[in-house]
Amino acid sequence: MSERPALTVARTVKDLRWQVFAWRAEGLRVGLVPTMGALHEGHLSLVRLALESADRVVVSLFVNPAQFAPTEDFASYPRGEDRDREMLAEAGCHLLYAPDATEIYPPGFSTTVTVGGVSAPLEGERRPQFFGGVATVVTKLFNQVAPDVAVFGEKDYQQLQVIRRLVRDLDLPVQIIGAPTRRAEDGLALSSRNAYLSADERVVAGKLNVIMAQMARSVAAGGAVITAEAMAADALRAAGFDSIDYIEVRHAEDLSTLGPGPIGDSPARVLAAVKIGKTRLIDNIAV
Ligand code: PAF
Repeated sequence: MSERPALTVARTVKDLRWQVFAWRAEGLRVGLVPTMGALHEGHLSLVRLALESADRVVVSLFVNPAQFAPTEDFASYPRGEDRDREMLAEAGCHLLYAPDATEIYPPGFSTTVTVGGVSAPLEGERRPQFFGGVATVVTKLFNQVAPDVAVFGEKDYQQLQVIRRLVRDLDLPVQIIGAPTRRAEDGLALSSRNAYLSADERVVAGKLNVIMAQMARSVAAGGAVITAEAMAADALRAAGFDSIDYIEVRHAEDLSTLGPGPIGDSPARVLAAVKIGKTRLIDNIAV
């Protein structure tokens, strides 16, 4: 017999709040894991981390149109709520919040939350609509769920830093926890979009983290940033990646540039975005 709690599904803010308020009345702490579904082991590790800090865990499942450009994969983004629901029940999640689009964006919706600074470089340059869409939907989810704690993966490191900034700037009463990236055996970061890779592309994809780790080691040993970045870009091309959006060393908190030379004592992070065929992969590691 399973000892897992029964998984409730809410599709409206009203049903969601009814449940969350009932938990609060019992003095229970509530955790939130925002997702766009197509769940994998990486998401489940976020749920397990949330369960360590909260008595009840809500997972939201909403493929957020506002964070996709018209040219991006909103229509084809992998979806499978039945499978997601089974995985969440197994992981010990208490409530799946899978809202209809009008619960998030009611008719006439005209507000966007913009986080300056840390949103601007890297993903912000390549996907100008992305962080506005993320910050808006995450603000809505925080207001709808009212969690004590929310867990986001370090896999989307810039997104995590944007959300930390959002919470600090707007005094949102929620604790943000960053969860370590889960990886396949060859080190490829788990991602819903890995499902797009062909078998050959998947082999190439596994080399991204190896090249990033070499780059991090070189910079940590006092090597110049400019040299490490150039060598990593060459290695990516030689490994068979079709294009490189960026592979850079940045300040670990605000993602500002660190200059061409050695990083000294600055906390640093290697961040990369590359393409293989039609699939875009992002990854990052600490220096
Ligand atoms: O990381 C994601 O899956 C999404 O960007 C998020 C945080 C659920 C917002 O839609």
